[in-house]
Amino acid sequence: MPTQQLTLRQPDDWHVHLRDGAMLQAVAGATARQFARAIVMPNLSPPITTVETALQYRQRIREALPDGSRFEPLLTAYLTDAIDPAEIERGFRQGAWVACKLYPAHATTNSAAGVTSIEAITPVITTLERIGMPLLIHGEVTSADIDIFDREAVFIERHLAPLLARHPGLKVVLEHITTSDAADFVRSGPATLAATITPHHLHINRNAMFAGGLRPDFYCLPVAKRELHRIALRGAATSGNPKFFLGTDSAPHARSAKEAACGCAGIFNAPFAIESYAAVFDRENALDKLEAFASKFGPRFYGLPLNAGTITLERQPLEVPDRLHLNDAAGTAVELVPFHAGETLPWRLA
Ligand code: DOR
Ligand code: ZN
Repeated sequence: MPTQQLTLRQPDDWHVHLRDGAMLQAVAGATARQFARAIVMPNLSPPITTVETALQYRQRIREALPDGSRFEPLLTAYLTDAIDPAEIERGFRQGAWVACKLYPAHATTNSAAGVTSIEAITPVITTLERIGMPLLIHGEVTSADIDIFDREAVFIERHLAPLLARHPGLKVVLEHITTSDAADFVRSGPATLAATITPHHLHINRNAMFAGGLRPDFYCLPVAKRELHRIALRGAATSGNPKFFLGTDSAPHARSAKEAACGCAGIFNAPFAIESYAAVFDRENALDKLEAFASKFGPRFYGLPLNAGTITLERQPLEVPDRLHLNDAAGTAVELVPFHAGETLPWRLA
């Protein structure tokens, strides 16, 4: 008989967008329900670029959590061309933030203030290397002449490989990898290089965006790729290699902002994230590898303690609703389409 129950050390989400204001209040509980900690992305408008705004944002996140929640948000600094390395170090030393996020300018949501040239922020990179602060990278080139499906692979070749060669001590997480090229690069790279993998890139290939019509709920960045890449990512995630760990990239946008003439990039997978990963590991006969991917490799890379608590998953059908209406603090509902809308997942959180 297959395993019916699975108890794991409590997992963390090493890449999530919690947003701000009403959206934050609506979605924070979904992440806090399963994860003990999360690396929270700084791409707010305006972005988190100072210690002061990071501390204020952390407070707003705490206020948005359900009563009694012990969820710990781990904040990140948003790199710009002008950010002061001394400010980054100051925030790292006092625990205001734990990593820096590099968005190439115009790569994705709220990235207009991102970095226009990695070489030009060498003083920042040198500081990160010296103090041991991880650099989290959205690894896509942005030039219009590069096909959108090639942007990750081209980024690795043009920017990431040279960056690692220039800074051998730099800790880097290549976020939300989507290609076999990225998985191979990370696997064969130094121990200072790791990657997060999202549930959606393990479940869907690029056909999902065009199945019977245009499907904005499957549009995210980096965009889903061909089936061969999805298979490679499933192999990497379930391999037991500590360089690959859980990061949902849950990126909520109101349904009205997704289903629009110019719909936003992002998949809201937070409500059933651990169940979504469990479905993949089960299918790959790798349930014994789920705990390390979800709960051990991330904290080890970041140099943080493992969580003491546990969660239990049960093999019970979980029907994912078509829509969620999640309330903000004032009781006003935000309408969101969750990942796996209308599907039944094989595992549920007890
Ligand atoms: O799909 C995405 N959505 N990719 C990103 O890199 C950003 C995110 C967002 O903030 O909406
Ligand atoms: Zn993201």
